[in-house]
Amino acid sequence: MNESPVTALHNRVLAADRIVFFTGAGMSAESGIPTFRDALTGLWERFDATALASPQGYRADPALVWGWYEWRRMKVMQAAPNAGHVAIADFVRNNPTKFVEIITQNVDDLHERAGCTHVTHLHGSILAPRCFACERPANAALIETIPNEPEGGRRLFPPHCDHCNGTFRPGVVWFGESLPQAEFKHASAAAREAEIFIVIGTSGVVEPAASLVRIAKKAGAFIISIDPNETMAELYADAVVRDTAAVALPTFLTACIAP
Ligand code: APR
Repeated sequence: MNESPVTALHNRVLAADRIVFFTGAGMSAESGIPTFRDALTGLWERFDATALASPQGYRADPALVWGWYEWRRMKVMQAAPNAGHVAIADFVRNNPTKFVEIITQNVDDLHERAGCTHVTHLHGSILAPRCFACERPANAALIETIPNEPEGGRRLFPPHCDHCNGTFRPGVVWFGESLPQAEFKHASAAAREAEIFIVIGTSGVVEPAASLVRIAKKAGAFIISIDPNETMAELYADAVVRDTAAVALPTFLTACIAP
């Protein structure tokens, strides 16, 4: 009897030993965290990326940038993992013999809070501010937890480093900055070794993170794309699931549990 495409996909995932989940902002959208490029709701539709997400923007107006990221940090702290995050964590737990990597462009900790312990962050963490001058991690006591901020936050002067008196900056990778080398090297190796590479909720337009799909494809991985919209990653996809993370992943992964 011919397998349905979905059954064929399930069986392929079940049979695979090395699987990579590569996630973008769409993975956290159903947790209430805005994406970047979605029409009308994306952050870059409403705010100026170069003014807010670059070293130049921070130097020009540290209070504007720090206040905006504090607003985003609050949104992350108030968010909860969605059913998609939980489905990936359950899949990892229910398939202990598989080698599963979660590689994310997201700066939130929702994969971790859903129960994933092995998460590679390519673009840093909004929860780990550090000193702009000496790079030391911020002392948590110095980072005030601000109450509910208005949309976009308000100007907030960044606290000072208690080591060098520099000012704190968000612990994320900004436009014009390099990705953390160790993380990207690890992610590239995982993409090369993957049998299945599942891309979830990324427009696939920001390099070098977006190159991971091409690396996986070139190395022979089966590429599955999960996104409600058409994306660049679909150019390399062997299977496309046109749905959201919190709907598609529970449906797709709960059927992929080793007997
Ligand atoms: N489920 C799955 N995907 C979704 C959902 C959802 N509920 N909602 C939106 N999406 C998809 C969109 O269709 C889009 O393809 O998520 C993707 C979001 O794309 P972007 O906003 O460009 O986010 P991302 O690809 O993660 O951006 C990459 O760009 O601005 C930088 O550093 C930032 O890490 C970010 C990088």
